[in-house]
Amino acid sequence: MPVYRSALLRFADDGRALYDEDGLLATGPDAQGRQRVLAAGSWQALGSQYAGQPVTQLPGRILAPGFVDMHIHFPQTDVIGSPADGLLPWLENYTFPHESRFVESGYSEQVATFFLAELLRNGVTTALAFATSHPTSVDALFGEAQRQQMRLITGKVLQDRHSPDGVRDDTEQSLIDTEALIQRWHGVDRLGYAITPRFAPTSTPAQLRGAGELAARYPDVWVQSHVAENLDEIRWARELFPAARSYLGVYDDFGLMRNRAVYAHCIHFDDDDRALMRDTGAVAAVSPTSNLFLGSGFFDYAGADRVGFGYGLASDVGGGTSFSPFHIMLAAYYVGREGQSKQGLSLSPQQLWWQHTAGAAKALGLAGVVGNLQPGCEADFLVLNPQATPLLARKTGQARSLDELLFALIVLGDDRVVEQTVISQAKYGSSA
Ligand code: GUN
Ligand code: ZN
Repeated sequence: MPVYRSALLRFADDGRALYDEDGLLATGPDAQGRQRVLAAGSWQALGSQYAGQPVTQLPGRILAPGFVDMHIHFPQTDVIGSPADGLLPWLENYTFPHESRFVESGYSEQVATFFLAELLRNGVTTALAFATSHPTSVDALFGEAQRQQMRLITGKVLQDRHSPDGVRDDTEQSLIDTEALIQRWHGVDRLGYAITPRFAPTSTPAQLRGAGELAARYPDVWVQSHVAENLDEIRWARELFPAARSYLGVYDDFGLMRNRAVYAHCIHFDDDDRALMRDTGAVAAVSPTSNLFLGSGFFDYAGADRVGFGYGLASDVGGGTSFSPFHIMLAAYYVGREGQSKQGLSLSPQQLWWQHTAGAAKALGLAGVVGNLQPGCEADFLVLNPQATPLLARKTGQARSLDELLFALIVLGDDRVVEQTVISQAKYGSSA
């Protein structure tokens, strides 16, 4: 049973950070053989229970929960940094042509291997990811995540219109493929399936209806899509679905608003949209580096909190510019500050970190499973080095409070801070 002695970061149920400068983390196998947190807290309170056991001492390091990325596109790993005049030209000129390559399983597998290594290197241990419209891309990503024993949720993209040859799918076949993939992968080891209509403009009403029927038939699979990201996109969605109350209302009309439904962006909302999110249990994947890069706008944190719907942070690679949760938390801080000038709010370092760990897990319906280091959680965790660069060492060395320490890491940190990423292993896994 591994026991670690180190500084330890975790979160209370109300989102407050709990920090033990001299902490203890003990993990051990559950009935299925998977490593879970057995004890977490101060060394002084817990250390005597583990007397005589070997202890891994990590002086100067911080044990922290693995990050949770609520929205990322694995086939856009190589699309990062493609400049375009907004979302729709970016999709047409870079994203759709590139995604057509994932029809080949060898190519999909090669990118999947790189993609998961990049997530882990950056400290992301759970992700909700888009694949492409090709079932090969889904098999490739699930297969590699299973080998790594990672908790990963993905799905075949549904897009049967307004999409070029090479990525456009067939309405009926796309729904047959989706159901077959749910049955092949959902709930296998740590994997989960997400029904994935790309966004309303690229699906016919028949495809959205079919997706909604599957969402009703398989209530514990996830649903993921995009909404209200860009003004041209919204105009287009409203032209295509004139009877809907709003763009978000389209998804409601087709039965795609429910618990475990995750909508990326949610920028240009009114309060009725916010109330629909709250009342249906759908949540937002806030993607600040993407929104800044594509000039889409600013997520309204104050509006979300006023009405009360769930959200968490996401990279949205390749609209997003970085896999690093540190870069994403910093961009979210900038977005919160922008909103503050219009009666918004300033996000605290603890709130930002929570939104990318326990808060994101809660939004995904995985509270107490990942994103935290409380007893019972799966033991996905990071060894962080707050002295990873000369400037970080100087700055974190002067921190007088937890907020100052976390803020220094958010502002100055990146993959160099992540010294080790530990994935909860099970006995039956190939690498266990
Ligand atoms: N809307 C529809 N598809 C996409 C995509 O791939 N990325 C982003 N950011 N928005 C989208
Ligand atoms: Zn996206």
